[in-house]
Amino acid sequence: MQVTNPELRPSGARSSSGIRTVTVLGATGSVGTSTVDLLKRGNGQYRVEAVTAHKNAVQLAQIARDLKACFAVVADPSAYAELKDALSGSGIEAASGEAAVIEAAERPANWVMAAVSGSVGLKPTLAAAKRGVTVALANKECLVCAGGVFMRAAAAYGATVLPVDSEHNAIFQALTAGPREDVSRIVITASGGPFRTWSREAMRGAKLEQALKHPNWSMGPKITIDSATMFNKVLELVEAHHLFAVEPEKLAVLVHPQSIIHGMVEYRDGSVIAQLGSPDMRIPIAHCLAWPRRIDGPAAKLDLAKIGSLTFEAPDMERFPALALGRRVLETGGAAPTVLNAANEVAVAAFIGGRIGFGGIADLVGATLDAAERRNATAEPQDIDEALAVDHMARSLAHDLLPEIAAKSF
Ligand SMILES: NC(=O)c1ccc[n+]([C@@H]2O[C@H](COP(=O)([O-])OP(=O)(O)OC[C@H]3O[C@@H](n4cnc5c(N)ncnc54)[C@H](OP(=O)(O)O)[C@@H]3O)[C@@H](O)[C@H]2O)c1
Repeated sequence: MQVTNPELRPSGARSSSGIRTVTVLGATGSVGTSTVDLLKRGNGQYRVEAVTAHKNAVQLAQIARDLKACFAVVADPSAYAELKDALSGSGIEAASGEAAVIEAAERPANWVMAAVSGSVGLKPTLAAAKRGVTVALANKECLVCAGGVFMRAAAAYGATVLPVDSEHNAIFQALTAGPREDVSRIVITASGGPFRTWSREAMRGAKLEQALKHPNWSMGPKITIDSATMFNKVLELVEAHHLFAVEPEKLAVLVHPQSIIHGMVEYRDGSVIAQLGSPDMRIPIAHCLAWPRRIDGPAAKLDLAKIGSLTFEAPDMERFPALALGRRVLETGGAAPTVLNAANEVAVAAFIGGRIGFGGIADLVGATLDAAERRNATAEPQDIDEALAVDHMARSLAHDLLPEIAAKSF
């Protein structure tokens, strides 16, 4: 079963003793540590099979010890000795390398948090899905780079895909209110980021430290800059398209600066079902961890009287050209979102490195899409390797275009 049919059903992901066996891929990151926090509060409800990181060995070893995990993996082999040392005497098995991360995903956990960042998360997440277990999906790249491939594999192997991203988790919850054929619109909310009220000219000259100041959420730098450009909403539209098998024309973005309503589903009778909550990732993660039940959550409870008012604005496609590029890739389909995602990663890294102005991010993504389309390189990937090949090709195109776009962007 997949998220495309989110009717509640008894979860197969819990043993008869009521203990859930879990693995956390990307345990040292922002989503990973929020997951670890919830697991620590679980009072013996969870048995932790494996935890992974890239190279943050000391933090990973501490997490593995705290959670009494069986297996801890760093993807970077140069961090292995440090991990082994930090785990000495614990009885926890240590390993390193990409294959070991995949092995962690394949070990017998029945709930896997996929919170590795970037396209390197594709293979381990797919490995977990192929075991037919519950995958709590935070890694956006699985759906943005290879959404068709990933969702087909999840369906074929009987995996349950639960969305961790707060907007998709909200929509998943709202979709339980009516039959899928009666859904007329799915609305993803957006805070509008730090430049919501800035002019396009002012935004073109925005500095890195200004782009990194998200008004509501505390997240890693890549996703925070994506919020400032609104490419994050584009990635989320593509995610929603694959997760919920919904046509692009039924997907909408609504700017909601308070980030209290995370997503809404409108039904044909005019009813709109929304999910509200404090902007704290432990809410959607707790929902995925307990699904189809609920657990006590540590996030601040919503005090609407204190918040006072919730406001909404239409998104501005002129000031945020990312949104127009998002519509374009949704309409083109195939590997166009893969190209957009790869070009955006190159552009954001260049912006962080001071090699391109803020306005150049969308310019570079647009130019890379043009170049990929001229090469007829946006056909639907048939497997993960094809998706990764498009990703690689688009990164190379973006790097070639970077000097020209950068020169015009300051
Ligand atoms: N942060 C949010 O609130 C949020 C919300 C919705 C969706 N997401 C999505 O969730 C994913 C994770 O986001 P995040 O903000 O938690 O990222 P993050 O803080 O950067 O953490 C990334 C995790 O992945 C590991 N990692 C990085 N490169 C790796 C590699 N090459 N091989 C194996 N592991 C690697 C990191 O290990 P090290 O610590 O060793 O580097 C860390 O554990 C992203 O796809 C993001 O778009 C995040």
